[in-house]
Amino acid sequence: MKTKILMVCLGNICRSPLAEGILSEKLPSSKFKVDSAGTAGYHIGKKPDTRSIQIAQKNGIDITTQKGRQFDVHDFGKFDIIYAMDFSVYKDIIALAPDENSKSKVKMILDEVFPGENIDVPDPYYGSDFGFESVYKMLDQACEVIANKLNPKNN
Ligand code: 4NP
Repeated sequence: MKTKILMVCLGNICRSPLAEGILSEKLPSSKFKVDSAGTAGYHIGKKPDTRSIQIAQKNGIDITTQKGRQFDVHDFGKFDIIYAMDFSVYKDIIALAPDENSKSKVKMILDEVFPGENIDVPDPYYGSDFGFESVYKMLDQACEVIANKLNPKNN
C-alpha cells in the first residue's frame, strides 16, 4: 500500500501546491501519493498562483495540472501524514480532527528541518519580505528531509 502525504496551507494556491510538486519529484510514485489542500475554500478548482507555477517551472517542476481543493475531515482517514505550512493552518486542521490518531498525523512541515520550533512557511500571497523564491527554498529543504526519511537512499 502507498504511503499518502497531504500538504495543507490556507488557499491551496501558493505554498501547498509547491510542497506537493516538490515532494512528488523526490519520491517514487509507485510507493507514495502526495496531494495538497487548503483550509479555506477561496480557490476551489483553481490552478496554482502564477508565481508558484513560475518558481516551480524554474526548478523543473510542473504544477499546472493541480487544482485547488478544500481540506475536509475525510482527509484524516485518507492520508498517513498531514503537513501544515504554518501554525494557524495547523490549529485549524487540529480543530477538525475527530480523534487522537487523526491529530497525531498532523505536523508542521518546517519541524522536519527545525524540530520543535514551530516555524511557519510565510504566506507569500500578498507579497512579503519572503517571496516565492524563499518559500521554494524552505519547502525544498523540508521535502528533502521528508523524502530521505520516508524513502532512505541506501535501503
Ligand atoms: P496559500 O496562500 O495559503 O499559500 O495558498 C494564500 C492564497 C490565497 C489567500 C491566502 C493565502 N487568499 O486569501 O485568497
